[in-house]
Parts: sequence; structure tokens; C-alpha cells
Amino acid sequence: MEFSHESVVVRRGRRSRLPIVVAVHSTALGRAVGGCRMWAYDSWEDGLRDALRLSEGMTRKCAAAGLPNGGGKTVVVLPTGRSLTADERRAALHDVGDIVAEFGGAYVTGPDAGTGPADMAAIGERTEYVFCRPQAAGGSGDPSPFTALGVVAALRSTCLALFGSPALAGRKFAVIGLGHVGEQIARQLAAAGAGLILSDVDPAKRSLGAELGAVFAEPDAAATAEVDVLVPAALGGLLTRDLVARLRCGAVAGAANNQLADPGVAELLREREILWAPDYIANAGGVVNAVSREVLGDEPEEAVKRIESIADTLTGLFETAARTKITTAQAADDLARRRLAAPVPTAPEP
Ligand code: PHE
Repeated sequence: MEFSHESVVVRRGRRSRLPIVVAVHSTALGRAVGGCRMWAYDSWEDGLRDALRLSEGMTRKCAAAGLPNGGGKTVVVLPTGRSLTADERRAALHDVGDIVAEFGGAYVTGPDAGTGPADMAAIGERTEYVFCRPQAAGGSGDPSPFTALGVVAALRSTCLALFGSPALAGRKFAVIGLGHVGEQIARQLAAAGAGLILSDVDPAKRSLGAELGAVFAEPDAAATAEVDVLVPAALGGLLTRDLVARLRCGAVAGAANNQLADPGVAELLREREILWAPDYIANAGGVVNAVSREVLGDEPEEAVKRIESIADTLTGLFETAARTKITTAQAADDLARRRLAAPVPTAPEP
């Protein structure tokens, strides 16, 4: 991997003694933004790798979404096989806050897999550079409903490209991963009258399947089921070469970051004529809401409009990719690169 980051800090937390990575990929368009992931990895190096990849993805995500921000990410490498006590968790979050503070505003953190608004309030005890504190504490709150809203907008564009109509009713979706975002996508799809196959590594999530009248399946069975759209909403890397050869869907569009196990998978999807909605386009709703509300000072309706514009962006990318015979991944990267080459005017400070 070529080193393209502006700055990466790997530090053992002073209080928590846990490995913490803060990766700032780019501030070319403005402050770097990106959530704080608290997750168990096999090694700290795996956590570092994830932070490097995710922060680079945030640069593209923000650029393509037209935000005046660059990309960053924080990873707290949790011990495997046990969860932190409340005190240990708070210590780790304070460690994160101190490192974020050292960047002096070049990087603003937020929630990601394994963290939520209450954690942001704890980080906020050490730095002001944190998004998505609870609304009661002056933040924009949980971003996951907004990420889900953007993904559902992306699913409408995907249906439009596949069938000539954005209607979700009667279409069939397999949602893999029923965490904060995946569950809300499933609920919105069910409410829209779509057919659903749901899956999660946690068998306790079966109850959501029952509640929504959906089929619950093992992850591999759900991923290879015959559906209109496969919706990855768990951690990254779902789309391996092996899986893509076995897919029976018309399209893949979801919330997970870094869905392609390697970049070449985009071409395999194209060869199989499976339409792929680039992950960082489809899942930008959370960060768009946070920046819209907390930086740009938008009213809630304006933020929702920005999130729903993901549908038009994606439709444009699908058309460009089809017309110029490139992958949708390439079309999205081109869009991000164009925006990075033409910086937007500086926004007010958060
Ligand atoms: N975790 C969100 C993502 O991957 C990012 C996010 C960052 C959301 C900051 C809100 C605020 O896009």
C-alpha cells in the first residue's frame, strides 16, 4: 500500500492502556472528519490497517458528497473475548479525546461501529472536536437513522436503474448485518412493502425477522439468495471474488464501508452485470447530517434534502459508468478526485 495519509498517530492510551489509532488522510477540502470505531481486532496492526483504509474512504466520501471536509478515522483496538467495564470505556474515550485534541481541529471525530452519541459526550469531555453528541448535550445525535435514510434513497436509485422505477414495493432485498443502520434499513424497506431476507451473525436478531415478517438466514445463504438487491450493512470486505462468482442479485447497494475485498472486485461485478452502488456514496447520510447540522448550521429539513440528494448523485454515476463503460467504482472515484482538485470555499468552523 502506498502511504498517502497526512498524519497517523498510533498510541497506547495513557489511561486505558489500549492501542489507539487516529488516521488523518486528507485536509485538502477542510477539517478531516470520520468516526471512532471501538472494535476487537486480532492485532493492533489489523486495527491500524482498518483505520488507514477507512480514513481514506472518508476523504472520498466527503468529497463526493460535496462536504467541505477531508477524511480521518479513529480505531480503538479492544481486547478480544471480553467487554470493557464502564470505567475502562470512559478511560479509552478520554484517551481518544486527548489525541483528537492534539490535532487542534484538523480532525473531528464522531460515532462509528461500536460507539454512539453517549460515547461522543465522553470524548467531548476532553475535546470540542467531536460530532454527534446527544441532542440534549448540543450535538446532532445518533447519525444512524440518517445513514439509513441515505441508503434507502440509494436503493431507490438502484431500483430505478434496474427496473426503470424507483418503487421499493414488491422488490426483494437481502440485508446482511442488523446493527444500528441495518435494522433501520430493514424497517424502512418493510414499511415500503418490500420483500426481505435478513441476516446477522447474532442469532438474537432473528426476532427482528419475525417482527417484520421477513425470512432470517445465515449470512452466506442471505448473500447468495435470489434477490433484486443485496444490501451489505455489516463490517467491510463482504464482496470477495468467491462471493461475487456466486451472487444471484441484480445489484449490490448498502451501508457497509469498504465492501470490496479488493479493488479488482468492481470489475468482476461489472462483468457479471451486477450493478454496484459505491459504498461511500450510498452510506454518506450520517456524516452529511452531522456536518450539515453542526458545521453548516442547516435546519433538519435542509439536512434531509442533502441526504436525499445521494439518490441523484448515484443515478448520475450509474449513467456515467454505463455510458463510458467503466465500473461504478471508477465513476465514483473520478467524482471524488474532481472535487478534491477543486476545493470548495472554506466553511464556518464547527
Ligand atoms: N461513521 C460514519 C461513516 O462511516 C461517519 C461519521 C463521522 C458520522 C462523523 C458522523 C460524524 O460515514
